[in-house]
Amino acid sequence: MFRLEHAKGLNAVATASKTLILLAILGLVSPAFAGVWDTGDVENGQSLFNANCASCHKVTDEVLAAPGLAGIADRWGASEDLLTLWIQDPQAAAESGDPYIKGLVERYVGTYGWMTGQAVSAADVGDIMAYVQNPPEGSAGLAAGAGSDCPTIDYNAGSNAPQGTLWFLILLTLFLIVALSAASVKRVLKNAVALKDGHELAEESTYMERVQVWAWDNRVFVGILGVFITAYIVVIGYQGLMGIGVYEAYAPSQPIKFIHSVHVCENEIDCQYCHHSADESKHAGIPSTNVCMNCHKAVKTGSRYGETEIAKIYEAIGFDAATGTYLDGEGKNGYALPQDNFGGEPIAWNKVHNLPDHVFFSHQQHVEVGGLHCQNCHGDVGKFSVGRIAPVEEINALMDDFPGLIQLSKPTLTMGWCIECHNKAEISFASSGYYEEMHDRLRDDLRGNEELRLFMEDGKATVKELGGWECAKCHY
Ligand code: HEC
Ligand code: HEC
Ligand code: HEC
Ligand code: HEC
Ligand code: HEC
Ligand code: HEC
Repeated sequence: MFRLEHAKGLNAVATASKTLILLAILGLVSPAFAGVWDTGDVENGQSLFNANCASCHKVTDEVLAAPGLAGIADRWGASEDLLTLWIQDPQAAAESGDPYIKGLVERYVGTYGWMTGQAVSAADVGDIMAYVQNPPEGSAGLAAGAGSDCPTIDYNAGSNAPQGTLWFLILLTLFLIVALSAASVKRVLKNAVALKDGHELAEESTYMERVQVWAWDNRVFVGILGVFITAYIVVIGYQGLMGIGVYEAYAPSQPIKFIHSVHVCENEIDCQYCHHSADESKHAGIPSTNVCMNCHKAVKTGSRYGETEIAKIYEAIGFDAATGTYLDGEGKNGYALPQDNFGGEPIAWNKVHNLPDHVFFSHQQHVEVGGLHCQNCHGDVGKFSVGRIAPVEEINALMDDFPGLIQLSKPTLTMGWCIECHNKAEISFASSGYYEEMHDRLRDDLRGNEELRLFMEDGKATVKELGGWECAKCHY
């Protein structure tokens, strides 16, 4: 008994001294250990957790892509700084030789691989741990939709085509039929009365002649009607021509009822978590089914559609939700990796934005170099259900929520829209060393070039001035 106590004591001393050495190395020595994870900001911790940890960990003891974090404080004891090191750089933490970490590595790395280090500060870890220890009621890591203040606008519900013109034409036709039959009935009656009274029938005039007589008798009315009809045709024709290539508010239905607001607003998932190539290539990209599985391996029911919609993800990738395993080629449970995609077909999302083939557009130029918000061209997607082409007036109204949005007037995705923005958007020279150098060289070397001087005089440059209006920049 005594020896056991003694051994425990020695062990504790050893661990404590190791921790102290490590703290000294890290320059993080802090005297207080007690209650370290009770003081953090739970709310901040929750959003940090959702952004950085929730794709692998749950706050319960359920396993996702890594062990659940319930009871983590008891397991890690007081070694707060070692934990911070683990979260920032697991392999470095393992080199400390701490026995708990050794055990952790032996137990999990074979199955899950090394945890990837996360870019969080020590203060962030404090907040995350405060949240993990005491998650507010009903939040199991990622938020379950109910009761949140994230509105969803379902643009895809029902048809919204205006039917006014059609009804107008139908009514007009009915009216003409009634008017013409009334006129012919009147004529027949008149003839009958004339015959009965013993008059000779007036020589039958042709229909055109009668119309001409009527029109002449009512020439003012006919003239005004003519002006109106001509004006109507001109306006409709002009709108029709201008509407070619305008797709504002287009929101096709999708094979899975994916809801942007649930992911972007309720769960604070960054656009580029899913559209990950927006800053490095022409296309922003639509996420592959694997990306969905990062979370939906664990999130099996939604608060709106229950299991039905999420089950379509499993069907596409070949995943057996009951056993939590991927299906192999024969449809049996095996150890196939998700990217083998054995089970089914990839999800066939319907394209929403689609510029003609003769136009070149690159996300990288606009998101990375131009530093534009996604919202400047796509609207407040965080409130949308399905993907949709946001009308330009709606984007302009977002000014308060997204300061710095460039206000435009031409319909989105038309050439006028691109051009208008290139005339308004200013280049930030600081965005690239190349621009900075070009700017300085031009400024110092104007040499009486009047056109250049005017360009440089206002101290700013628009995309247009850099050639953003040249046909070949946008057309193949
Ligand atoms: C890419 C997946 C992934 C992400 C993201 C991730 N972890 Fe981990 N984490 C793991 C894995 C896997 C392990 C198990 C050890 C191993 O295999 O490296 C682990 C282990 C841990 C442990 C030790 C668990 C235990 O039972 O002692 C803690 C604590 C931890 N992670 C915290 C975090 C925190 C906090 C974040 C977010 C800031 C985070 N992890 C983000 C994958 C991840
Ligand atoms: C969880 C993953 C996820 C996140 C986060 C996400 N999206 Fe999407 N997005 C999708 C999927 C899946 C589609 C295809 C289905 C659809 O159109 O509704 C899509 C479609 C789109 C489309 C239309 C694509 C097309 O075919 O033209 C746009 C634009 C878009 N998203 C912008 C955004 C923006 C902006 C954000 C951030 C505010 C964002 N998305 C966040 C998954 C995501
Ligand atoms: C300058 C305007 C602009 C900005 C800023 C912008 N987009 Fe786009 N986006 C477009 C246009 C135009 C298209 C249509 C491209 C095509 O059809 O070739 C598009 C298409 C898309 C698509 C459909 C798939 C694809 O890549 O063609 C997605 C998804 C998307 N954008 C997401 C985003 C996200 C996320 C951001 C922010 C990181 C963003 N966009 C920023 C204009 C913009
Ligand atoms: C970072 C985590 C994450 C990713 C990635 C993710 N989802 Fe989700 N998704 C969630 C969470 C959390 C919910 C549950 C919201 C709720 O309770 O309604 C959810 C809910 C859903 C729902 C059900 C909505 C409802 O209320 O019934 C569907 C369908 C869905 N996601 C589809 C997708 C698809 C398709 C992808 C991949 C393109 C994807 N998700 C990627 C976290 C994620
Ligand atoms: C909201 C404003 C905005 C809209 C809308 C916009 N652009 Fe741009 N565009 C920019 C900015 C800003 C840059 C300059 C980025 C930089 O180089 O700093 C740019 C640069 C470009 C370039 C590179 C020009 C060069 O000199 O190399 C091309 C090509 C381009 N845009 C095409 C398009 C097309 C095609 C559309 C319409 C489908 C479009 N842009 C719509 C703001 C916009
Ligand atoms: C900033 C990018 C940009 C520049 C610069 C540009 N265009 Fe366009 N152009 C577009 C886009 C985008 C479309 C497709 C519009 C649509 O689908 O409604 C287009 C369409 C067209 C069309 C097809 C007609 C139509 O409405 O679809 C012609 C022709 C055309 N452009 C000629 C030119 C000429 C000539 C120039 C040089 C004076 C030029 N463009 C400069 C972006 C640009």
